[in-house]
Amino acid sequence: MSFSVDLKTDNLNITPFLRWAGGKRWLTSSHANLFPETFEKYIEPFLGSGSVYFHLKPKKAVLSDLNEELINTYVAIKENWQQIYALLEAHSRLHCSEYYYQVRASTPVSDEAKAARFIYLNRTCWNGLYRVNGSGKFNVPIGTQRKALLDTDDFESLSKLFKGVDFQSQDFEKIIDKARSGDFIFVDPPYTVKHNYNGFIGYNEKIFHWNDQIRLSDCLKRASSRGCLIMLTNANHYSIKELYENDFEIKEVSRSSTIAGISSNRGVYEEVIIRNY
Ligand SMILES: C[S@@+](CC[C@H](N)C(=O)[O-])C[C@H]1O[C@@H](n2cnc3c(N)ncnc32)[C@H](O)[C@@H]1O
Repeated sequence: MSFSVDLKTDNLNITPFLRWAGGKRWLTSSHANLFPETFEKYIEPFLGSGSVYFHLKPKKAVLSDLNEELINTYVAIKENWQQIYALLEAHSRLHCSEYYYQVRASTPVSDEAKAARFIYLNRTCWNGLYRVNGSGKFNVPIGTQRKALLDTDDFESLSKLFKGVDFQSQDFEKIIDKARSGDFIFVDPPYTVKHNYNGFIGYNEKIFHWNDQIRLSDCLKRASSRGCLIMLTNANHYSIKELYENDFEIKEVSRSSTIAGISSNRGVYEEVIIRNY
């Protein structure tokens, strides 16, 4: 069985390098005991900023997200981190409002330039949001965050860590259907619930519909019967619990204490952690 990286690879302090809506740092800081201790391959089909991947740092992983620009960024760092860093330094030096909107309107050709643009916009846009218009163009305004380079940046270590990763940009079902007995699948989909079509999450041009939640639960049940270890996070809503209650264990969790001390929110169970082990 494989688990975390070799301690000699000094990758231990690496954390996510992107900001992402629905990031799961709260899960790794408050519920780390819920991850399995051993597994074969690590599989994450809704990668985003990869909080759980960076927490576990498994040797062998399949990391995927439907967002192609996002996955291109990981692959470019894996293969050519020096060039990405140099391009990001240039963005950082030139950063101002006018420059931000110029870069936002640009369409770079090389994978490296696309990746540096993606990281620059992610770090300087409003709230780290990723949103595109009908033609697929990033359209988030500039934010208050001024730094395109961070003290914690260590792209060389990221690149080393990614050596054991197979990056993909596929729909979740294709990735989950390939998981085998003993693999650990961590699943963090957009939180759409039944009868709440306002609750769409516009991460990509494609919206995650209630039918996708049903499709997801069906393929996770197939993976579970093949012997995969599964952990899923989702909204604490009856419609989600109905999908999983017969086959999985459901734990309700609250994050209210982290929301700026708003006492009326305490004890409100907003999310569920669903597992089959
Ligand atoms: C809640 S976010 C994941 C956040 C991540 N766990 C983190 O810590 O940053 C959900 C992700 O699902 C991706 N996504 C949406 N629909 C998808 C689909 N059908 N297949 C795969 N990924 C999808 C989005 O691009 C988004 O990055």
